[in-house]
Amino acid sequence: MTVDWARGGPDLLVALDRDAGRLGLQIQDQLRAGIRDRRLGAGERLPSTRRLAELLGVSRGTVVDVYEQLLAEGYVESAVGSGTRVAAMPAGGPARPGPGAVPAAPWSSRPAVADFEYGIPDLGSVPLAAWSWAVSEATRTLPTAELGDEDPAGSRHLREVVTAYHRRVRSGCAVAEDAIVVSGFRQGLAFTLATLARHGIVRIALEDPGPREHDVIARRAGLDAVPVPVDDHGLDVDRLRETGARAVLLTPAHQCPTGVALGPSRRRDLVAWADEVDGVILEDDYDADFRYDRQPVGSLQGLNPDRVIGLGSVSKTLAPAIRLGWVLAPARFVEGVVEEKRLSSRGAPGLDQEALALLMETGLYDRHLRRVRELYRARRDVLAAEAELAFGQGRLQGLAAGCHALLLLPDGTSERAVVATAATMGVRVNGLDRYRFVAADTEAEPDPRPPALVLGFGNVSEQQIRRGIRTLAEAVQRQHHT
Ligand SMILES: Cc1ncc(COP(=O)(O)O)c(C=O)c1O
Repeated sequence: MTVDWARGGPDLLVALDRDAGRLGLQIQDQLRAGIRDRRLGAGERLPSTRRLAELLGVSRGTVVDVYEQLLAEGYVESAVGSGTRVAAMPAGGPARPGPGAVPAAPWSSRPAVADFEYGIPDLGSVPLAAWSWAVSEATRTLPTAELGDEDPAGSRHLREVVTAYHRRVRSGCAVAEDAIVVSGFRQGLAFTLATLARHGIVRIALEDPGPREHDVIARRAGLDAVPVPVDDHGLDVDRLRETGARAVLLTPAHQCPTGVALGPSRRRDLVAWADEVDGVILEDDYDADFRYDRQPVGSLQGLNPDRVIGLGSVSKTLAPAIRLGWVLAPARFVEGVVEEKRLSSRGAPGLDQEALALLMETGLYDRHLRRVRELYRARRDVLAAEAELAFGQGRLQGLAAGCHALLLLPDGTSERAVVATAATMGVRVNGLDRYRFVAADTEAEPDPRPPALVLGFGNVSEQQIRRGIRTLAEAVQRQHHT
């Protein structure tokens, strides 16, 4: 249930998940978040307790308790005759987004109906018992001599296990000497970009649309970042040739966010491009383990190990909180990446590296993947069926793999308006425009694609998917009627 009351627009909203219970706490959390991020401005008057109780269908006592709590915490003020008003928040807190800003998903609280935030695996399925076994086994068996500063490339054991896994599952051909253990993909990317800059690479091409913030990360590393359009076969290699870049970062197995796989001839062409320009391909292999209709397409790293740097992570397969990943680099870059790592962080957590090696080596990792693959397949099927019912056939793209899909909206729909309306109805989702390349000085090309939403379905139950898709359909309807 959703309610809005403020100043004629859906400025403040409380969406209750009745199944989740603790309604007072839900109201409290959402009001606090609204005040903190200034959707509710200082001095703004909140509805009376009676009115809010009526609107939300809760008892008046519940709302009285909520207001008292917020009063005690300093979020609201109350004076006889003027009701309850929002208190002024200290300066320097998060500001209201400017009029031109792309609305970000509201992070502050979990949405009541469905959270289609991109990139989160099923957190309820993280194999905690297996992980806990592996950590205690690592603690029990790791020789104390190995508890000092690690080899800056990372645990030898994990590098052997990860490269063996990559050869077996991703058709790679790296060995332990090519691998550097890092704290997740992003850290590996930052070290790799810094290394490329030292090798005289000044420009990197990125997919447009592509993963969020990679353009920012590339610029921070001192590289000039340029966009290359993505079409139904993945990154357009002819357009890449025009950029003059000698490095490219892409998501070939399941493009983020469009979900397409890099076509076979594009793969060959890309590798040929790298040879032509003496260039390097950064392969972000983030969700290749989840392919539903057939075997995953093998890694580019296996196709040309001399030109491809493979970047992997367990953020999708286990959990982002484990924060481990790897860089598989041609020999000429290994030392540079190791040096970046040594200087910036000395190493990654040693016991966790050993635990991950044990998890992979004993087959527990594979067993976990088999289990969650089935879970995601089932969620994907529900998503496909619901989207077809609500939006018609062929509106969902990129369902063959991974944990997100692209929902094409009817022409003329405003992505931003739908995202904002959906948020007020308890559904968190991102529009495709959040994945557009933000050019430093030049305008990115206008997107020829229809408006679309990026639906992450890794951490949403089947029931939430059903309700979420219906809510999105309603949000689109409302947008067309305003
Ligand atoms: C495109 C892409 N690459 C890589 C990752 C993994 O990043 P990390 O290992 O830093 O969590 C993600 C996670 O969401 C992603 O979306």
